[in-house]
Amino acid sequence: MLKGRHLIEPHDFTPAEMEEIFRLAETMAASMGDFFSLCRGMIMATLFYEPSTRTRFSFEAAMYRLGGQVIGFAEPNSSSVAKGESIADTIRTVACYADIAVMRHPKEGSALVAAGYSPIPVINAGDGGHHHPTQTLTDLFTIRHYKQRFEGLTVGLCGDLKFGRTVHSLIQAMARYPGVRFVCVSPGELTVPDYIMAGLPAGCAVECVVDQPLEQHIGKMDILYMTRVQRERFFNEADYLRLKDCYILDRRVLSRAREDLIVMHPLPRVNEIAYGVDDDRRAVYFPQARLGMIARMALIAKLLGVS
Ligand code: NCD
Repeated sequence: MLKGRHLIEPHDFTPAEMEEIFRLAETMAASMGDFFSLCRGMIMATLFYEPSTRTRFSFEAAMYRLGGQVIGFAEPNSSSVAKGESIADTIRTVACYADIAVMRHPKEGSALVAAGYSPIPVINAGDGGHHHPTQTLTDLFTIRHYKQRFEGLTVGLCGDLKFGRTVHSLIQAMARYPGVRFVCVSPGELTVPDYIMAGLPAGCAVECVVDQPLEQHIGKMDILYMTRVQRERFFNEADYLRLKDCYILDRRVLSRAREDLIVMHPLPRVNEIAYGVDDDRRAVYFPQARLGMIARMALIAKLLGVS
């Protein structure tokens, strides 16, 4: 039963509950028009303490496509937060107006704090460098769409694996399916944090490839998940400038990949995928964004208990 639940990190839902959401999302994708009034009269609050276009638009579009309405702020300076209000008070007030809340915050753990005070479902839309479970919902729905399975896949993750919260959530979620292998390609300074590695089930196969070219490893991947170097989480600009172009997927590198590889990216892209790759049929990052909106529609409907 997903009604009334919070989604703070991927482990909050079992694989069976995720599958329940994917099944509804699949039905929604096949007949969007049938769901236009599912959330009529309901309100979603979007509390974005950190910039976002994709995730916020994706949530808002999802709610509008379900016939619901949206209130919220896209930057905290335009809200009472600027007056010094705490998260606990903001969420309790917002819960008086809205039926569900989506929150993005630069500090790790913020969404969990909000959930602790909230009588309405809280969805974590990214808490600092920690987790981003609805991007994971998007990513898994995309993998399921293109590969029809999760079991036994080799997932390559490339770029900023330290600060990239989408990577942390994706690893946590995919590690629950049998036979999944990870190939983590990054500079030594941007490897997956220990707390994520420590949370993996015993026997989970992870190959960490540090400071080596992507082209040497791309051939063994079913999925390549490229990520942006997360400039806003660096302590100094010089480090960012040194590392920002550490891995670039271009047509030459992609020519070493399997024909059935899929290339994913949470977006926004900066420099890590050359535009020349966009026309390759293995590039699925724009369809991935659409699948993300549909997965969010299903998530909202399930948490509101209207499906
Ligand atoms: C990601 C994020 O915010 O963590 N973007 C997104 O949600 N679409 C990835 C990123 O910003 O690099």
